[in-house]
Amino acid sequence: MGSFEELRARCLGCTACRLSETRTNVVFGMGNEKSPILFVGEGPGEQEDLQGQPFVGRSGKLLDDFLAAVELDRSKVYIANIVKCRPPKNRDPLPDEEEACIGYLREQVRLIGPKLIVCLGRIAACKLIRPDFKITTERGTYTEKAGILMTATFHPAAVLRDPRKKADMFSDFIEIKHRYDQFVNV
Ligand code: URA
Ligand code: SF4
Repeated sequence: MGSFEELRARCLGCTACRLSETRTNVVFGMGNEKSPILFVGEGPGEQEDLQGQPFVGRSGKLLDDFLAAVELDRSKVYIANIVKCRPPKNRDPLPDEEEACIGYLREQVRLIGPKLIVCLGRIAACKLIRPDFKITTERGTYTEKAGILMTATFHPAAVLRDPRKKADMFSDFIEIKHRYDQFVNV
């Protein structure tokens, strides 16, 4: 019931861009549809494509660890991606693919009504915050856009490649949890 399920159904049948030709499953998103916090990644990887759920591979395990470290989990936040279908060989989504897909995320934002959007990595931050967003120097900063707080942290895959990023990502999650507590306590 409800328009969230209608939106999901529409997305699962989408053929609006070429990624529909190579996907196994559409990865619509998962989590708490009433959460004040929406995490946005880049697009499904191999495991996500096979299972139809976001962040269920190695990056997802690390995301779960960061959430758990600040006493959050997938029942308390919502997790989605810029593109809902896997780009072949995990290449970056192309601009026209992002443009074809972004309407689903916009609708998710409208229906969830998050107070804070957390971009996971450069692709999401450049699409949602600013095209020239620099993840290394600007992660952990907060801006407001159309009445919604926006921030970004590293993509978990970047931390898997370079564990020295772990401390900065952890401090970003501490702040995210601090905001979460404020949102649910008012
Ligand atoms: N990386 C992403 O950006 N999103 C996922 O869902 C999984 C890995
Ligand atoms: Fe549709 Fe998005 Fe999948 Fe492209 S990536 S086919 S726009 S759901």
